[in-house]
Amino acid sequence: MTSIDPRSDQLPRRVADSINRDDLPLNDDRSRLRYVMNNLLLHIHPSRVNKASLKFTYTWGLGGLAIMLLAILVGTGIMLMFAYTPSPTTAYSDMLNLQTSVNYGQFVRNLHHWSGNLLVIVTVLHLLRVFFTGGLRPPREFNWVLGIGLLLLVVVANFTGYLLPWDQLAYWAVTVGASLLSYIPLIGDALSNFILGGPEVSGATLTNFYGLHVAIIPMAIFFIASFHIWRVRKDALTVPRDIDEAPPERLEKVPTLPHLVSIEFVFALVMLALLVGWAAFVNAPLEAAADPNHSPNPAKAAWYFMGIQELLLHFHPVIGAIVIPALGLGALVAFPYLKFDSDTEGIWFRSHKGRRMAWLAAIIALIGTPPLVILDEYIIDFPAMLPTLPSLVSNGLLPLLILLALFLMFGAGMKSLFKANRDETRQALFVLLVVAFIALTVMGVAFRGEGMALMWPWEVL
Ligand code: HEM
Repeated sequence: MTSIDPRSDQLPRRVADSINRDDLPLNDDRSRLRYVMNNLLLHIHPSRVNKASLKFTYTWGLGGLAIMLLAILVGTGIMLMFAYTPSPTTAYSDMLNLQTSVNYGQFVRNLHHWSGNLLVIVTVLHLLRVFFTGGLRPPREFNWVLGIGLLLLVVVANFTGYLLPWDQLAYWAVTVGASLLSYIPLIGDALSNFILGGPEVSGATLTNFYGLHVAIIPMAIFFIASFHIWRVRKDALTVPRDIDEAPPERLEKVPTLPHLVSIEFVFALVMLALLVGWAAFVNAPLEAAADPNHSPNPAKAAWYFMGIQELLLHFHPVIGAIVIPALGLGALVAFPYLKFDSDTEGIWFRSHKGRRMAWLAAIIALIGTPPLVILDEYIIDFPAMLPTLPSLVSNGLLPLLILLALFLMFGAGMKSLFKANRDETRQALFVLLVVAFIALTVMGVAFRGEGMALMWPWEVL
């Protein structure tokens, strides 16, 4: 075991050495192994990283930011547990108390609330970064699947936390969100009853959600995130390349300490400062106490489910709430296992053509989604046009098949228009779906008012 360097009499150096016994040279395999064994940071990172991968505008530090947010959520969550009891009689008053009588209670709640919401956004952005730089290709396909698992857990963690303040917003958002489950054929009702602890949101739901939120989901995130980060270390991060640049023959490596760790440290400090500033001035919402007898109008799901709630307004619930999300999720999981046409790992958007196609797909999705919503809202009414068919067909399978046909035609059209390969075409299809889903989410959040009717955002507020 290495001892602390007796020659160093500088206090910071001695403190650092007492934590990480890392004063060994890195010039042979044995000393490198001991260096790693003796250093906590190097259990997370490799001892040396590719210099090119340090480029901040490649990863945008999003994976690391997700880790930092998880750490803040655990820290602030534990503090909140000291002032909160998960019971319908106390939950809401605990929230008020936290905001008025507990020192820094409001601030800690704000930090927890905003970090939780930011984590959903950051995780999605990280997924997009990985997708658009080809980071999901072999050998990283399983890590991509682990990532999808993490994204789902992050959303469920947020959703279970949503109920805990026990105000109107929480009660009805969870009622709407949980109702999506009951549309799963055969087992939907049983599943929803199991999770809610009864037929509707009640004290039993609060107990169940609390247990999930403070213990089961954080533990699952901890194990899967550890696996994920370990795999990043084993596979090494992809190396950024310019378009048309061949994969480098020899990669220049630099020690992780200080090269990578110093960038992470500065970025973490900047983000922490921004988050603390935001949480100091912007309060987490808290409405009136939950009232199971008075539903607000409109009753909306949490913002990250609004895309699905919007789909429910256009499709039979089994198709809108189950089939479409399941198809999307299945496609995401299967994606890295498809055959790739070209080696574009590390290149943003694959190629010049890939970039142009992605732009076009984004513009088409952005200007095409609102007219489709309006068309279905005011003009086309399949159930009225086909009254003899069950609504699962007229309002579900039929519009779904029409959309799938349009989707495939779009893919074929883009492929032949640009003379593109399969990678570029699939990327354009992915962009189309992502932007359409974001457009649906924005419409649900900002353009749906009383009775979930379409209106302008200033009328919604
Ligand atoms: C709590 C959520 C997550 C955490 C804490 C996390 C953490 C990280 C970190 C620290 C890295 C390396 C640096 C970076 O790219 O920023 C990374 C890379 C990676 N992540 Fe995640 N991640 C999460 C979610 C996801 C999701 C949702 C996906 C995709 C579905 C994903 C797929 C990947 C892949 C494939 C890599 C390797 C990419 C490459 O080598 O370029 N991760 N992740």
